[in-house]
Amino acid sequence: MDYQKYVTQRARDIEISTIRYFFNMVNEVEGAISLCIGEPDFITPTHINLAAVQALANGHTFYSPNAGLYELRQEISNYLERRYQLAYKPGSEIIVTIGASQAIDVAIRTLIEPGDKVLIPQPSFVAYKPCTILAGGKPVYVPTYPQDDFVLRPDVLEQYITEKSKLLILPYPNNPTGAVMTEEQLKEIANVVKKHDLIVVADEIYSELTYGIQHTAFAKIPDMWERTVTINGFSKSYAMTGWRLGYVAAPEGLTEQILKVHQYNVTCAATMGQYAAIEAMKNGDRDIAVMRAEYDERRKFLLESLRDMGFDCFEPKGAFYVFPSIKKTGLSSEEFAQKLLWEGKVAVVPGSSFGENGQDFVRLAYATSMENLQEAVKRISTFLSNL
Ligand SMILES: Cc1ncc(COP(=O)(O)O)c(C=O)c1O
Repeated sequence: MDYQKYVTQRARDIEISTIRYFFNMVNEVEGAISLCIGEPDFITPTHINLAAVQALANGHTFYSPNAGLYELRQEISNYLERRYQLAYKPGSEIIVTIGASQAIDVAIRTLIEPGDKVLIPQPSFVAYKPCTILAGGKPVYVPTYPQDDFVLRPDVLEQYITEKSKLLILPYPNNPTGAVMTEEQLKEIANVVKKHDLIVVADEIYSELTYGIQHTAFAKIPDMWERTVTINGFSKSYAMTGWRLGYVAAPEGLTEQILKVHQYNVTCAATMGQYAAIEAMKNGDRDIAVMRAEYDERRKFLLESLRDMGFDCFEPKGAFYVFPSIKKTGLSSEEFAQKLLWEGKVAVVPGSSFGENGQDFVRLAYATSMENLQEAVKRISTFLSNL
């Protein structure tokens, strides 16, 4: 059968992420070390796991309210206030989602009309573009540059704004570069946002993973709360990727619309997981601190090792990635990643997976043990000397 004719153009226009492609290939190379996947190597802290077990024992196997358990929304509200001085009402301004992934999708689908343009700093997380296309919008990549530490520049942003521009994605701390934006830099972006009447989706999933710098929430910048959809979640900070839990926080005028899209999409997030998330928010600060300290050690080790090997690499201050330039090798990022995997037995992600100006870079995730990183560094060094 010719299935193509049954499939929408929008679905055909999107592609499977090449990150998955490389991740799947790792299994074909015996003994390969994977620095591919942006997923904590820690198991979810035991007290959080036990809260879900207890929820099951207590019979919490039913649907929750569409927006999530009220108690969890209350905890999220407290957390956002405590950590980022953001005020969101638990009853009407927070929705618990199936990971930040679903939050991104429902936010974009609620905000975008066919033909609207979505400004996406590049390189960045792979989901923004396909979600935009599926919503009928037009993704517009706004380049960020290594000489600016991959921070979004207001003057560059303005060059890409047209009458059709409606939404700006603000993905900091950034995957894949590890870039973070300071309060001052965010204020400059806020001026552009206001001038051109944009709405912002701030994907702050890595907000807890910053090193030597405190995360500033975009919604905290003056006048930005009312035009920001804040996205965050549990995957990265609490090592809860498999639980699929995230959230959207936004002014009521937006959440009441997003909630409808969310309701008909998934009804609600898994209820027993939401009990685990309550425990994470109440008693998880220490776990975050311990994991953050460990990531920071690995970050320093990997950065120093890569620089010692001669890679140009800016210092990432957030998330758990380093993004060195491989330009000097004369290989494209895909060739480099392929060769390194087959010849050096280390899997990394080509920078081109995150947009075309990631072309001269590769992403290494340090969400893996120090032993793995040490071995990976040895292998990369041998690989380079054999190139
Ligand atoms: C920037 C960014 N946003 C969102 C997500 C999705 O997170 P979740 O597991 O909460 O769906 C990821 C996952 O890698 C990410 O890197």
